[in-house]
Amino acid sequence: MTPIDSTSSCLAPLGPLLNRPLNIGGRLLAKRLVFAPMTFLGHVAFRELLSGFGGYGLLFSEMCSAKTVPSENRFVSRYFRWRDEELPFLACQVVGSEPERMADAAQRIEAEGFFGVDVNFGCSTGAICRQSCGAAVLRDPDLAERIVHHIRRAVRIPLTVKFRTGWQDDPAAAVQMGRRFEDAGADAVTFHPRVAPDRRARAPKWEYIGRIKQALGIPVFGNGNVFDADGCLRMLRQTGCDGVALGRIAIARPWIFAEWCDGFKPGPDIFEKTAKQLLNLTARHFEEKAAVRRFRKFIFYFAANFRFGHTLYTQMQNSAGLNELQETLDAFFATPPELTSAPNMNYFQ
Ligand SMILES: Cc1cc2nc3c(=O)[nH]c(=O)nc-3n(C[C@H](O)[C@H](O)[C@H](O)COP(=O)(O)O)c2cc1C
Repeated sequence: MTPIDSTSSCLAPLGPLLNRPLNIGGRLLAKRLVFAPMTFLGHVAFRELLSGFGGYGLLFSEMCSAKTVPSENRFVSRYFRWRDEELPFLACQVVGSEPERMADAAQRIEAEGFFGVDVNFGCSTGAICRQSCGAAVLRDPDLAERIVHHIRRAVRIPLTVKFRTGWQDDPAAAVQMGRRFEDAGADAVTFHPRVAPDRRARAPKWEYIGRIKQALGIPVFGNGNVFDADGCLRMLRQTGCDGVALGRIAIARPWIFAEWCDGFKPGPDIFEKTAKQLLNLTARHFEEKAAVRRFRKFIFYFAANFRFGHTLYTQMQNSAGLNELQETLDAFFATPPELTSAPNMNYFQ
């Protein structure tokens, strides 16, 4: 990745591949590049920032608990919040392990007007798996299928599933799981080809995405370690997947969708402008303590862009309030920071 990627020769073939409509359960996405669900990062303020750049086909919310979604107040909820304008392009991700509760949550999501409902069978953090949710559900394929089936019966909006290889490195079992999701009524899947205990330490096995794609009739989004235009093109060509879901690189470079799909050319001040805009938006959407925590989490990934990103990261962790965060940004950008040629992976774990 060159410091500012817009000169990449891969952009010419990539644009036409990504700018093709894709039918998900009867609704058309204009573009095949989507924003993956990212808890504590892909919140309402970050998504407002993304919407200013555009270029994506669909956004996914942070994961929302099926236990709370049916009765939550969107204006005070931690995760279940949105701007009405984004609903046509926003799928709400739900996490849980009880088919009835998942279906109830999906009904609320449908009633609120979201594009669709996305089921989280990918999260492998201890906190989620200890509650038998997220990737833990994949240990019980019958239950996973039943959840999708219950949701399908409860709602008409597009139903998507995000899942991993599973708990064993067994691509045949992953293919089988994908087929069962399709048979249970899923309209598309996002597949992250890593086994569940493997957080992000080892490279994802993209060839498994190809196997899922070959076996399923519904659209398949590939996900995992796409960090530049060349990587995106390779994933599309090697796996034949229908679209690509971007996670961490979209946090580090929120204009990436516009760059790859719309020919947006970021200027040298893009990093400073973007960070400051996100700080303002986060302060507008959340009370101070919550805003500070979210902005610091963003900085962890954003710092990967800079040769001395650790300076920014450390100063941010020591900044207590929004004013201090603003001053730290001002100081960091007072001298144009040196960019890395590719995101520093120490920040991407
Ligand atoms: C901090 C963080 C939070 C995440 N939160 C979620 C989540 O809520 N739901 C989900 O399905 N995946 C979640 N993921 C996984 C991402 O959606 C994605 O699968 C993963 O980052 C790999 O894609 P990438 O290499 O493009 O980042 C999260 C990942 C990170 C790093």
